[in-house]
Amino acid sequence: MDQQGILVLDFGGQYTRLIARRVRQQKVYSKVLPSSVDLETIKKEAPDGIILSGGPSSISDPKAPRIDKDIFALGIPVLGIGYGMQLMSSLLGGTVVRADKKEYGVATVQFNGNHAPFAAMPEYSECLMSHADLVDKLPEGFKVYGKTNACPIAAIGNPDKKLYGIQFHPEVSLSKDGTTLLSSFLFDVCKLKPTWEMTGYAEEAIEQIRKTVGDGTVLLGLSGGVDSAVAAALIEKAIGNRLHCVYVDHGFMRKGETEMVKDVFTRYFPVTLKCVDASERFFTALKNVSDPEQKRKIIGAEFVNVFKDAALSFGKLDYFAQGTIYSDVIESGAVEGSNIIKSHHNVGGLPKELGFTGLVEPLRNLFKDEVRELGRVLGLPNHMVDRQPFPGPGLAIRCLGALTFERISIVRESDAILREEVKKAGLSSSISQYFTVLTNIQSVGVMDDERTYFYAVAIRAVTTDDFMTAQWTSLPHELLATVSSRIVNEVPGVNRVLYDITGKPPASIEWE
Ligand code: XMP
Repeated sequence: MDQQGILVLDFGGQYTRLIARRVRQQKVYSKVLPSSVDLETIKKEAPDGIILSGGPSSISDPKAPRIDKDIFALGIPVLGIGYGMQLMSSLLGGTVVRADKKEYGVATVQFNGNHAPFAAMPEYSECLMSHADLVDKLPEGFKVYGKTNACPIAAIGNPDKKLYGIQFHPEVSLSKDGTTLLSSFLFDVCKLKPTWEMTGYAEEAIEQIRKTVGDGTVLLGLSGGVDSAVAAALIEKAIGNRLHCVYVDHGFMRKGETEMVKDVFTRYFPVTLKCVDASERFFTALKNVSDPEQKRKIIGAEFVNVFKDAALSFGKLDYFAQGTIYSDVIESGAVEGSNIIKSHHNVGGLPKELGFTGLVEPLRNLFKDEVRELGRVLGLPNHMVDRQPFPGPGLAIRCLGALTFERISIVRESDAILREEVKKAGLSSSISQYFTVLTNIQSVGVMDDERTYFYAVAIRAVTTDDFMTAQWTSLPHELLATVSSRIVNEVPGVNRVLYDITGKPPASIEWE
């Protein structure tokens, strides 16, 4: 490794990247490698500690992943988690058996350790257990440091050799004191210091991009979102204006968004930028279309065409870059090292046709909050880095029914008012996503003694961790009152404001 830190060996567990992230959260560098790496590579990496991840395999399966047992004789501290613990036990002479009953869920682990890392744990701690196999007999030199009712050997260690194993998952937040255990492993056992910063990650990523791209050129689509912006900033630092960016304004962007992208990527990160104002073309293609799926399909297809034309105007470019982040990798089912391109509507089917040499995805290992931090480290403005999620089809799917310049303008202006007031109230960072929707309801109202028959605008605000489920956010009444009054007074064509109080499920976050 280029610096002090932890090597995480991946046995296919669903939480492996989360382990690496928890280590980074303790300001310690971490790197994930597949469990198939050979001993020589591990020796060369010379990590200060090794974590063996969990995984779905059973030791009893001859095809289950294994490692060279000499890894335990390198004098490097090892922490095995779940399958990692079972593998360590089995390779060192212990036995692993099938449990009578698969255990999945939170259980109380009773710790009895006076040795790090277990000494750091309270006597009783809630931990997430997830296993079908159990360590049945310990390898020589090991002792039991923790147990649950169902699992008598839940934490083990050989402090002389600095080898430890746990049957639970300290990396998930369901394990209440998991971070305590991990940090004791890092600082007390591996003797690491909490000195790693995102700046280190940025430098390494920039170096890696230079190595991959050489003196070649790169194409990247800027969407105005956080991920593509951070990827662009990083690549610009690596190769300057050999980075070519296309930004397509389909006419459904939020207020000030296009100007922000142009400003940042001409002044602060001067890439070779092509901004295409394609709104006329999109509005024409969507004329009289009000079905949500139709809208999405048309926008997706038009987008690819406009993007392709813009990309071709640069001539042949060598690499295609994407702001794919770790959650995209999980969602697309892509495994580490494979070259599957995220099936995002913006770029579907594009790279093959343009004949790129390769793909650059510098954010692939990062979680969303790490991407934001990286953006800040690189010097992107806060309003860009803290931006809430925004769907690819933009305001078009927040404007129910047919799309016209006037109707999109109602969504854009009302959304800007909501954003402004939420910011003034100091609530921006506590709400996951908030926006307005132009409904297709018209209702009777009265303004300046005149009867009106105008649209109703709805306010949507949700709180969520993963956007798969969400709760509606209870906004303060004063804020709702101000927003409502400003919208009906400042946005022509609106005489009523509604508040969406539905969770997901049964509603989705967007209205279309
Ligand atoms: P739903 O409406 O499915 O939204 O509950 C979940 C999250 O996904 C965002 N979203 C999209 N993002 N392209 C995107 O990049 C899309 O087509 C799209 N549709 C919905 C939505 O804003 C929310 O954060």
